[in-house]
This record gives sequence, structure tokens and C-alpha cells, in this order.
Amino acid sequence: MLEVTHLAKSYPTPRGPLDILSGLSLSLRPGEAASIVGPSGSGKSTLLYILGALEPPTSGTVTLDGVDPFTLPPTELAAFRNRRVGFVFQDHLLLPQCTVLENVLIPTLVGDSDADAPARARDLLERVGLADRLDHRPAELSGGERQRVALARALIRRPPLLLCDEPTGNLDHAAGDVVATMLFDLHQRQETVLVVVTHNTGLAAKCPIRFELVGQRLERA
Ligand SMILES: Nc1ncnc2c1ncn2[C@@H]1O[C@H](COP(=O)(O)OP(=O)(O)OP(=O)(O)O)[C@@H](O)[C@H]1O
Ligand SMILES: [Mg+2]
Repeated sequence: MLEVTHLAKSYPTPRGPLDILSGLSLSLRPGEAASIVGPSGSGKSTLLYILGALEPPTSGTVTLDGVDPFTLPPTELAAFRNRRVGFVFQDHLLLPQCTVLENVLIPTLVGDSDADAPARARDLLERVGLADRLDHRPAELSGGERQRVALARALIRRPPLLLCDEPTGNLDHAAGDVVATMLFDLHQRQETVLVVVTHNTGLAAKCPIRFELVGQRLERA
């Protein structure tokens, strides 16, 4: 369960604090999916970074299954990010020198040993339609295929929270719709909380909960 209470975020600037988010609350249960739209600069990415424990809020609390990551010591915070949160960005951020299979396994290389990770990676890659591309390098894949690898990598640790920032933003409609379908199928299969910032109408429509980020907080659309 993801719970956000009275969240505020401001960035310091030479002319004083720049308020991005304020009074923002949100509650999502496992298996629930929410999309967020809003104008450029409204704070969508900032919110996802805070939800994913990459960036601390200025005030307010974020808890995932009762744990507030910002109260954790640094090593536990790193483990929280690695195990509890999957991220898919607009850019796939795959390592060019690694194969598809190796890229998916990267999150499992830190922390406790994870003996069945290779089997899970193969299963995820099969589900995103890339079972016959395990040994390929990212440069040999299309943009949509790379994003499907990034999706498999985000889910390899079975995180309870999946955060996506314009996951189809670099893709044409057809490729974007394929990624959107697979993303949503995997979210349902793994029963993650899904929060997706997207302008892809197909993906947004798949999310039963739709928000707009306006006036520094989320409004139900
Ligand atoms: N580290 C930072 N320091 C100062 N200002 C920042 C910082 N990071 C983001 N901002 C500002 O915060 C605001 C929100 O940025 P954010 O990237 O969250 O917007 P966004 O809604 O994701 O926009 P887009 O749709 O263009 O991706 C912007 O005005 C941005 O300039
Ligand atoms: Mg953004």
C-alpha cells in the first residue's frame, strides 16, 4: 500500500524557494493503477522521484507498506529502492555493452543472492515478447523492444511499486500501445501499485484511477 500524506516539495532558488507540490495526498492499494497527467513543469517527475525514494520531500510523509524510506539509514534506503521500487523512464537507460538478459538481471546483482533471478528474467522477457532476443544488445532492438526490456528490468525484483515516467513518450503509437498493454498486464500479474505519468491515451485509459496534477496537488480526473 502506497500512502502519501500532506506532501510538499520546493526547490531552493536564488530568488527563494520554488514551490512545486503542496498538500498532496494519495493512497493506492496493491493492484491499483493510477495515471497522472499535467502540464510540463507541473511536477509530475518530481512526484515520481519522491514516491520512488530518489528525492526527499520538503515536508509530509510517503510510506510503502508502512515503511517511510526517508527515515531509513543510507544502506537500507538503497536496498529499499532496489527491492521495493521499479522505475521505467522515457529513455530506456539500458547498458549498451550488456545483452538483453544481462540488462534485466542488473538489479539483482546487488544485495542478497537471488538464485532464481535468471529464470524470472527469462519468464519476464518471454511475457514481453523477447524470448528469442536474450543475447541481443540494445542497439539491435527497436525503441519499443528496448522499452519492453526496461519494463522487465523494473519488475525483476518483484517490487510492490512500479513507477513509470512517460514510458511510451519516445515511441510511435503502435509501439507505444504494445508497451502499454504489456506494462498493464505485468502490473496486474504482479499486483504492484502502478503510478504512470503518461500522455498515451491508451495507457491512461487502462488505469482505473486518473489524476491531473494541478495547483501543486492531484485532482481526480
Ligand atoms: N533540482 C531542481 N532544482 C530546481 N528546480 C527544479 C529541480 N528539479 C525540477 N525543478 C523544477 O520543478 C518543476 C517541476 O519539474 P518536473 O520535472 O517535475 O516537471 P514535469 O511535470 O515532469 O514536466 P515535464 O512534463 O516537462 O516532464 C519545474 O519548474 C522544474 O524546473
Ligand atoms: Mg517530467
